Amino acid sequence: MTQTPRPVISATGLFTPPESISNEELVDSFNRYVASFNADNADRIASGEIEALQPSSTEFIEKASGIKARHVIAKKPILDIETMAPRWDERGDEELSQMAEIGVAAAREALEKAGRSPEDVDAVLCAASNMERPYPAMAIEIQQELGIDGFAFDMNVACSSATFGIQTAADYVRSGNARSVLVVSPEITSGHLNWRDRDSHFIFGDVATAVLVEDAAIAPAQHWEILGTKLKTVFSNNIRNNFGFLNRAHPDTSGAPDKLFVQEGRKVFKEVVPMVAQMIVDEAEGFGIEADKLRRLWLHQANAGMNRLIAQRVLGHEASEDESPTVLDTYGNTSSAGSIIAFHKHNDDLAPGDTGLICSFGAGYSAGAVFVRKVG
Ligand code: COA
Repeated sequence: MTQTPRPVISATGLFTPPESISNEELVDSFNRYVASFNADNADRIASGEIEALQPSSTEFIEKASGIKARHVIAKKPILDIETMAPRWDERGDEELSQMAEIGVAAAREALEKAGRSPEDVDAVLCAASNMERPYPAMAIEIQQELGIDGFAFDMNVACSSATFGIQTAADYVRSGNARSVLVVSPEITSGHLNWRDRDSHFIFGDVATAVLVEDAAIAPAQHWEILGTKLKTVFSNNIRNNFGFLNRAHPDTSGAPDKLFVQEGRKVFKEVVPMVAQMIVDEAEGFGIEADKLRRLWLHQANAGMNRLIAQRVLGHEASEDESPTVLDTYGNTSSAGSIIAFHKHNDDLAPGDTGLICSFGAGYSAGAVFVRKVG
């Protein structure tokens, strides 16, 4: 008798760019840019036509966000005050794209850990905040490079892309449309960050993660059963990026700040914390899980203060690093990959039967919760 398919997480993979920028290096570059801008515009500033730019500070960054460093794919041009953006040689159509390259590296690790051959994977989702091009889909290029037969497509739900991808994959498994699905999240967030904006220049970092979602019947003995998932979106302009293919119709918009990441950080903090905490508590109850008994929370990595508050509301006490691990300090905000990095790095030590939660939240607003239990 064939069993009803049950989705599980068989394995995860991570690619971390070798280069990293410390807060000290970042602030040094930013403040040299500020000094140069203010010197170049001394007359306009003196006449009151424009305001002088204010310097950034490492103390502020660490206190306000918990971030100490971030990995990036191209450090030099980001710190060069003439560029302050990631730059690399444009690749030809026959070469592997930048996003596909790091996505493939993370995917290979996940496949290897699960002992899975690419031929046995049915689908690839490239779930990320930004896509390198509109088409062909990044996911299809990753599929091709790995040698996977089946189907692939891109999806974007900003910081919640990976968890939305996990639910999508789990639904394919449940419905019998696929038995093995790779959810790949190459997040080159350095490309959408305005490195000249004091309020946000410290936030993001680059990384790629992969999650292999499969039917329990074919999964390795040790895996994470997906007990339930919940997705939620509520429209908000408080995190926005107006970059898009229709902008090209307006020649004067290139480099305009609204074509990069912009946010009302305080509002995001205030509105998202209660929304996410409530969602977790309600959904846990719906799945018959006692929220305060969750062994570990792998939360979205945007701000240490937000995670402290959410974890406290869910667990009923101040969470320890063991209960709610942080990767934000060395990775910065890696958009949808953040909670997956936390899961990837901090799940081996849990015991069979332990339950936990992978949870993302961000632009949209969007939030995704994936409740899991360790098996094997
Ligand atoms: N260096 C020094 N001072 C800075 C600074 C910097 N880089 N950036 C801002 N400041 C100053 C501001 O000018 C302000 O000064 P004022 O009080 O004299 O006006 C003060 O610090 C507070 O600024 P504010 O923007 O209100 O800081 P904050 O405490 O809200 O922290 C964030 C900013 C972005 C770290 C925080 O709001 C946050 O993380 N929010 C959630 C963001 C999030 O999750 N976004 C999702 C992204 S996908």
